[in-house]
Amino acid sequence: MTSGSTFALITGASKGLGKYFARALAARKQNLILVARSKDKLDALASELRHSHGIQAEPLEFDLAAAGAGLQLAQQLREHNFQTELLVNNAGFGERGKFLDLSLERQMQMIHLQDTAVVELTYQLLPAMIDAGRGGIINVSSLAGFQPVPYAAIYSATKSFLTTFSMALREELRLTGVKVVTVCPGRLRADPEDAEAQEKRQKVPGREQRHEDVVNETLKKLDSGGGLVIPGRLNRLTVRGQRLMSLNAVPKIVARLSKS
Ligand SMILES: NC(=O)c1ccc[n+]([C@@H]2O[C@H](COP(=O)([O-])OP(=O)(O)OC[C@H]3O[C@@H](n4cnc5c(N)ncnc54)[C@H](OP(=O)(O)O)[C@@H]3O)[C@@H](O)[C@H]2O)c1
Repeated sequence: MTSGSTFALITGASKGLGKYFARALAARKQNLILVARSKDKLDALASELRHSHGIQAEPLEFDLAAAGAGLQLAQQLREHNFQTELLVNNAGFGERGKFLDLSLERQMQMIHLQDTAVVELTYQLLPAMIDAGRGGIINVSSLAGFQPVPYAAIYSATKSFLTTFSMALREELRLTGVKVVTVCPGRLRADPEDAEAQEKRQKVPGREQRHEDVVNETLKKLDSGGGLVIPGRLNRLTVRGQRLMSLNAVPKIVARLSKS
C-alpha cells in the first residue's frame, strides 16, 4: 500500500452488484478494498482491476454475518492503516419462505449482515470522513424495504431498517461534506458472469435491472451530493403508488404476489 492512499471499501465485492461497483470505481481510479468470503473470486477481481486500471486493489476475506463482524473488520482496517473515504455497504442475501419455516440462524445472519455490520462499520469509519470534511457512504437497500413482504419478512425488515437509517443519516451529515446514497434496486437480472446465479434464478414476470444501470445511477447521485435512488421508472411509480394505499392493504396484496 502506498502511504497516504485512500480507499473505497466495498462489502460483497466478489460477485453481483458489488463486483460492478468495484469495476465502475476502479475506472474512476479509485483504490479499493474488496470484502467478501470467497477469497479466490476477490483475488481474481483485485488482480483484474490492478492490471486494467493501475489502482491499488486489496482483497480482504471476511464473514460479515457474524455478531461483531463490522467492528472486527474496522479493527483490521486500522491495523493495515487503510484510510477509507467511501464505504459501500452492499453485501446481502435474501431467504424466501414462511418466517417459522426458515432457520433462525440464517435469518439472524441476514440481520447481522444487512443491518448490524452496516451500523458498526459506519460508526467506526464515519469520524475520519467527518474530520477530513469529505467522504461517502453508499447503502445498497432494496425495493423490498418500502413495505412488509410476507414470505420474505426478515429480508424486507432488514432493508426497511437500512433505508430508514441511511436516509436519516444523510440529513444528519448534510453540513459535514460526507455524502450518503441509499439505493433501492428492484429485481436484478442474473449476473451474466455468474453461472451459479444464472442456473438458480427463477424466471418471474416483470422487468429485471442491469447491474451497470443501478451502479451508474448510484454513482451519479453520489456525485450530485447523495440522496435516495430508486432505479427504474416503473419502480419509482410503484413506490409512489403504494403510498396512496391503506397500510393494512399493502401486506395483503404483497403476500398474494409474493406467494405466487
Ligand atoms: N439481486 C437482486 O435482485 C437484488 C434486488 C435488490 C437489492 N439487492 C441487494 O443488492 C445487494 C447485492 O446483491 P446481489 O444480487 O449482487 O447479490 P450476490 O450476487 O448474491 O452477491 C452478494 C455478495 O455479498 C457477499 N456476501 C454474502 N454473504 C456474506 C457474508 N456473510 N460476509 C461477507 N460477504 C457476504 C457475497 O460474497 P461471498 O459469498 O463471497 O461472501 C457477494 O459478494 C444485496 O444487499 C441485495 O440485498 C439485490
